[in-house]
Amino acid sequence: VRKWTAIGDLDEGLKDKEVLIRGRVQTSRAVGKNIAFLVLRKRGFTVQCVLTVAPELVSQDMVKFAAGLTRESHVDIEGVVSVPGEPIKGASQQVEVHVRKIYCISKAIPNLPINIEDAARSEAEIERALQAGEQLVRVSQDTRLTHRVLDMRTPANQAIFRVQCQIENVFRQFLFAEGFVGIHTPKLMAGSSEGGAAVFRLDYKGTPACLAQSPQLHKQMAINGDFDRVFEIGPVFRAEDSFTHRHLCEFIGLDTEMEINEHYSEVMDVVDRLFVAIFDSLNENCQRELEAIRKQYPFEPLKYLRRTLRLTFQEGVQMLKEAGIEVDPLGDLNTETERKLGQLVLKKYNTEFYILHRYPLAVRPFYTMPCSDDPAYSNSFDVFIRGEEIISGAQRVHFPELLIARAKECGINVETILPYIDSFRYGAPPHGGFGVGLERVVMLFCNLNNIRKTSLYPRDPQRIRP
Ligand code: 4AD
Repeated sequence: VRKWTAIGDLDEGLKDKEVLIRGRVQTSRAVGKNIAFLVLRKRGFTVQCVLTVAPELVSQDMVKFAAGLTRESHVDIEGVVSVPGEPIKGASQQVEVHVRKIYCISKAIPNLPINIEDAARSEAEIERALQAGEQLVRVSQDTRLTHRVLDMRTPANQAIFRVQCQIENVFRQFLFAEGFVGIHTPKLMAGSSEGGAAVFRLDYKGTPACLAQSPQLHKQMAINGDFDRVFEIGPVFRAEDSFTHRHLCEFIGLDTEMEINEHYSEVMDVVDRLFVAIFDSLNENCQRELEAIRKQYPFEPLKYLRRTLRLTFQEGVQMLKEAGIEVDPLGDLNTETERKLGQLVLKKYNTEFYILHRYPLAVRPFYTMPCSDDPAYSNSFDVFIRGEEIISGAQRVHFPELLIARAKECGINVETILPYIDSFRYGAPPHGGFGVGLERVVMLFCNLNNIRKTSLYPRDPQRIRP
């Protein structure tokens, strides 16, 4: 096998060297009959390739062939690297490849539904181009998602999903190092795990069943099975009715569950250190990706503290009250009040990442542990980035009778979760955990306005394709 060079690795160090590269044709054009320019792209990197007619090396036919290549065709090129005197516009790599041989290994159709260059422009660039009278099609979100394979090729999208992967990696490595075991729980379930209407029902060989709304019950059962610390990365299904910027019908859940020695703050300690590690790692190791995202979707770096701020729900309600916003002290916050509180917290504490804990029990799922000093509240928390929820967590009830009572109060059919209830009859330690929405973390870290941007193939109430 010959030696191949990645487009992103083409630099001045390779001056006058022969290279073999593969990429997609971003643009191709002829200048007269003797010269053609191609811009090749791979993984968000681009390089300019030049064909100049020269006896024995490059023919006019080759120039014509190269200039006629359709956008997005896949080509292999053998050529020599040169360093031009001036900066190269329209390519990330500041060297050129002088083509000796060119092979088209896969031709793209001529009229693609999305032009990648248009799809990669920022809103400001689009405005400027339109004002300058340029003919340009604004690529709608819906068009992007329908033709996701093409949309994925923009530098910002290439970066978004690498950032997502990095978050997943740090989550796994951090927890593994802290003694957590990665597990996999079933996504086909006999009953719902979170209650409520947001469940996809299905027929399981004649028995009513549903898709898992979370690994909640099975991760707790694993704790009762003596795995004292577990995590899971897997799909979560919610039959959401509302079409919002932050709800998907299928998303990736990052879940943990752990024994608690004394207090649910032990769970919040894990959130705290885990997320500082995730954010630090993104800032240190994903500079290029964050820059590529920022180029299309400008955003300010996330403000977070070395030790994550913790406020009680009551303190949050008080802050809102002082700002003239009345909320029910035993109710829940809505999207608007959460955002508002996020702004107040930023102003007062200079952080866009914080934990709100001790929520009213009435607004939490049946398995949430009430506070021992006041059962109107619970040992639970939500975590916010830029005023939007990314995590919910809590200590869980580990007394079977209380669990049954709470399930009934919340309208859950106890019959469907009997094995879960029973697991607490065999000796169950105090425990707690949390669930993170991966797409939300990426969306909010990068201050993107829609969760569909951070799901590779989003599933929402109106979309189950591609
Ligand atoms: O708040 P949720 O529903 O909590 C649970 O599932 C609990 N079992 C977690 C726990 O361990 N206590 O979901 C957890 C997180 C939310 O904070 C949010 O980030 C994300 O999952 N999430 C969604 N993300 C995208 N689309 C949706 N429809 C989401 N619903 C929740």
